[in-house]
Amino acid sequence: MKFFLDTADVEQLRKAVEMGVCDGATTNPSLVARTGKPFEQVIREVLDVVPGPVSLEVLSLDTEGMVAEARDLHQRNPEKVVVKIPMTPDGIRAVKILAGEGVKTNVTLIFSPAQALIAAKAGATYVSPFVGRLDDISHQGMDLVQDILTIFANYDFDTQVIVASIRHPMHVVEAAIMGADVATIPFAVIEKLFKHPLTDIGIERFLKDFSRVPKD
Ligand code: G3P
Repeated sequence: MKFFLDTADVEQLRKAVEMGVCDGATTNPSLVARTGKPFEQVIREVLDVVPGPVSLEVLSLDTEGMVAEARDLHQRNPEKVVVKIPMTPDGIRAVKILAGEGVKTNVTLIFSPAQALIAAKAGATYVSPFVGRLDDISHQGMDLVQDILTIFANYDFDTQVIVASIRHPMHVVEAAIMGADVATIPFAVIEKLFKHPLTDIGIERFLKDFSRVPKD
C-alpha cells in the first residue's frame, strides 16, 4: 500500500520523505489555506519535495472551468500532478475529458459506492472515499472502502482507491488489510504509526541491562 501525506505543509512532507514513508501527497483547499502561503508557492514547494503523485484540487464548479484549471496544473509537472476534482456531474464530465488527454485525476468527496463506480467509469485515476467524515456521522467509513474495492475488482477497473480523511492508525491498518491502493495520512497519524509503548519500554530495559555489563 502506498503512503501519501495528506498535507500541504512542506516541512511535514520533507520529514516524511526522509523517513521513507511518503510515496506521494494529497492537498485540498483547506490544507492549502492552513499553510498561510500563496497557492503558487505551495504548488512549487510540494512538487519539489514529494517524489511521487501530488493531488492539487480545482476550485471551479463548472466543467469548463475545471478543465481549464486542470490543464494549467497538469503542465506544471505532467508526471507528478494529479488533478483533484469534486464528485459532481460537472466534475465527472471534466474527468472524462481529462482522461482523454492523459491528465491524471483524483475524484474527491466520495461518500458512496455508486459515486466511486461512476468516477471509475469516467476514467478517474484515483477515487478518494472520506472515511473519517463518515465515521463522524455514525457510519462505518471503512465499509465504504471495502465495497469500492469489491466493485473495482469485479470489473477490473484500473482506478485506484485512496483511503482519505484518515483520523487514526487503525484506519491505515484496516486499509492495508483490505488491500486499498493508497492511504493518504495526516502527519500526526504517521507519527502515531511508529509508536508502541512496549518498544519504548524494551529500549529502556536493554539500555538499563547493558549498563551492568562489565567494562573491558
Ligand atoms: O484530503 C482530503 C481528506 O483527507 C480530508 O480529511 O480530515 O478534513 O476529513 P478531513
